[in-house]
Amino acid sequence: MEGPQVRALVKYANEDGALEVRDVAAPEAGPGEVLVRVHTVGVCGSDIHMWHDSQSKSSVGILPVTLGHESAGVIAAVGPDVEGWVVGDRVVCETAASICGVCALCRAGRYNLCPFREGYGLKRDGAMAEYVVAEPRVLHRIPDGVSFAAAAMTEPYAVAYNALIERVGVKPGALVVIQGAGAIGINALQLAVLAGAGTTVVLGTSVDAHRLARASELGADHVVDITSEDPAELIGRLHDGLGADVVVDATGVSAALQQSMQLVRPGGEIAKVGWGPQPLGFTLDPLVKKAATLYGCYSHTWSTWEAVLRLFAAGRLHPESIIGGAYPVEEWETAFGAMQRGEHIKSVLRMPFGLESEADR
Ligand SMILES: NC(=O)c1ccc[n+]([C@@H]2O[C@H](COP(=O)([O-])OP(=O)(O)OC[C@H]3O[C@@H](n4cnc5c(N)ncnc54)[C@H](O)[C@@H]3O)[C@@H](O)[C@H]2O)c1
Ligand SMILES: [Zn+2]
Ligand SMILES: [Zn+2]
Repeated sequence: MEGPQVRALVKYANEDGALEVRDVAAPEAGPGEVLVRVHTVGVCGSDIHMWHDSQSKSSVGILPVTLGHESAGVIAAVGPDVEGWVVGDRVVCETAASICGVCALCRAGRYNLCPFREGYGLKRDGAMAEYVVAEPRVLHRIPDGVSFAAAAMTEPYAVAYNALIERVGVKPGALVVIQGAGAIGINALQLAVLAGAGTTVVLGTSVDAHRLARASELGADHVVDITSEDPAELIGRLHDGLGADVVVDATGVSAALQQSMQLVRPGGEIAKVGWGPQPLGFTLDPLVKKAATLYGCYSHTWSTWEAVLRLFAAGRLHPESIIGGAYPVEEWETAFGAMQRGEHIKSVLRMPFGLESEADR
């Protein structure tokens, strides 16, 4: 092998478990690109799906690929034709590593929906590596006082912000039911509280005892383990008894949509964030009868990231509260496993810079 090598966590086949730390060629910043030295990178539920090859089949990756799309670091090199960024800038990177820039969706600012979008950790090498290459288009400055670990949480909060604020628009006083107590569900809860929801309910399963307890600490008015209690009975006693103004599906299980339709009030809204590779085996008639609105929610754009970073800087969201543990990349299996077992809402990997550096803030 030629040239300098760096460590990276690579998915190398479409098989359960085909993930390992490898030495890969150190990337370089080409024209119009910067090189980011990664400090901290979050483990996403989708990374765990990639590990087990259970990701949504609408997300087709290019292998081998380095995982990781929730990163924070510093600019280590600036390629030709880049202005406004210098070595040492503290940055987070959006997930749309590449977009076409000229389709109708890109031109309208909805580049999260660009048909040619290539995301980190799926079609482009991601940030579970010492370095990641980025176009300045995806960079955001980390505000002073926001740690690298907190900044690495921008992406999962941006997912929740997009769903609750930009898609459905939670109104003050609303009854908001969140299905799922993973990072997306917990972040959705924090956004619902911030948006002034009148009552919040978080639903989980028998593996979620720890996560539901954390949801209560973070302001959920009610938490329900749906494997031992029917949430419909509780929802029927809340507000006017007609159901939830907003239901957020953050489960990753297709069957959850049946419950979303049961819990939403007539005229209410469902924000579907979670994927569901399993085909549906039930009728959507309740959606029709209730004239409810079902929103697919996907990713986020520039303004979403800026809003989340401002909320971090202002201390109005608490990204550190979801991080259960930080691990060197060699211990990725421990980090991924703790999330899979529900022990952590979020695990993060510290890349070599994050382990060496005093600069966690
Ligand atoms: N649309 C997007 O842009 C986007 C972005 C990020 C993540 N996601 C997806 O959102 C989903 C949630 O992500 P996450 O990282 O929080 O996942 P996670 O796996 O950590 O959490 C899912 C939670 O849902 C719970 N759950 C499962 N079935 C349930 C049910 N029927 N009712 C209530 N709770 C149930 C699980 O026990 C777990 O607590 C995943 O499908 C993920 O891929 C989508
Ligand atoms: Zn993610
Ligand atoms: Zn486009």
